[in-house]
Amino acid sequence: MIYYKTEAEIALMRESALLVSKTLAHIAGLIKPGITTLSLDKIIGEFIRDHQAEPAFLNYKGYPFNSCISVNDVVVHGFPDKNELKEGDIISVDIGTLKNGYYGDHAYTFAIGDPGDDVMKLIRITKESLYKGIEKAVAGNRIGDIAYAIQEHTEKKHGYGVVRELVGHGLGRSMHEDPQVPNYGRKGIGPVLREGLVLAIEPMINMGKKDVYTEEDGWTVRTVDHKPSVHFEHDVCVRKGKAEILSDYSIIEKVEKANPNLYTKD
Ligand code: MF3
Ligand code: CO
Repeated sequence: MIYYKTEAEIALMRESALLVSKTLAHIAGLIKPGITTLSLDKIIGEFIRDHQAEPAFLNYKGYPFNSCISVNDVVVHGFPDKNELKEGDIISVDIGTLKNGYYGDHAYTFAIGDPGDDVMKLIRITKESLYKGIEKAVAGNRIGDIAYAIQEHTEKKHGYGVVRELVGHGLGRSMHEDPQVPNYGRKGIGPVLREGLVLAIEPMINMGKKDVYTEEDGWTVRTVDHKPSVHFEHDVCVRKGKAEILSDYSIIEKVEKANPNLYTKD
């Protein structure tokens, strides 16, 4: 069942998505070598509650933390822990909020110090692929057009591995609504996009092979070849002519660039 949102609902979803962006911007200023992902997770939970919202991942299907923080070869759903971050690590921080009955859910990958040119390129290409997917999120197109654009830019053009087991999704009064949004596939297939459909588009792109496995904890998804993986996610509203991005990377990027511990060039 696909739900199309009214303008009033989209306004609330924009608020929820923006709170995720603000939370990501807040922690972008705190990331440094020596800090633990568990301490970032605590700050994330407090920041969200301070803004009249709930951390949506906590207790979702039993998930035990406020956020997912996925380091290096962890693709997604990494558990925050007491290990200290170090120079050369990359971390995807994925955050969900529930505010006024609507979910925000998006993610950003940061580089701590210089992880090397190859990894910086993987980060750049994955972020670019997200925007190439978003360009296709316009009324009249199909889900397959988004999927194809992401796969084309990452796998076909640069030889990276596109994760098959996990996909983007509709977003609204539930965190995972129809339709699924794969990061691979053929153009022209799948559900038709109509104005008011809100999607979480989230390429998960591996430096090496596409294969992943889930650890014993039931959550942590890792690359089989243990090469790094990058994850970016935006909340997007399908519109006529041009998609509207409800989340906002510009406020995150501003803090990221100003933090000397974070690497932003490649
Ligand atoms: N961005 C993730 C997703 O769309 C968030 C779910 S993580 C969970 O699946 F912890 F909440 F399950
Ligand atoms: Co998501």
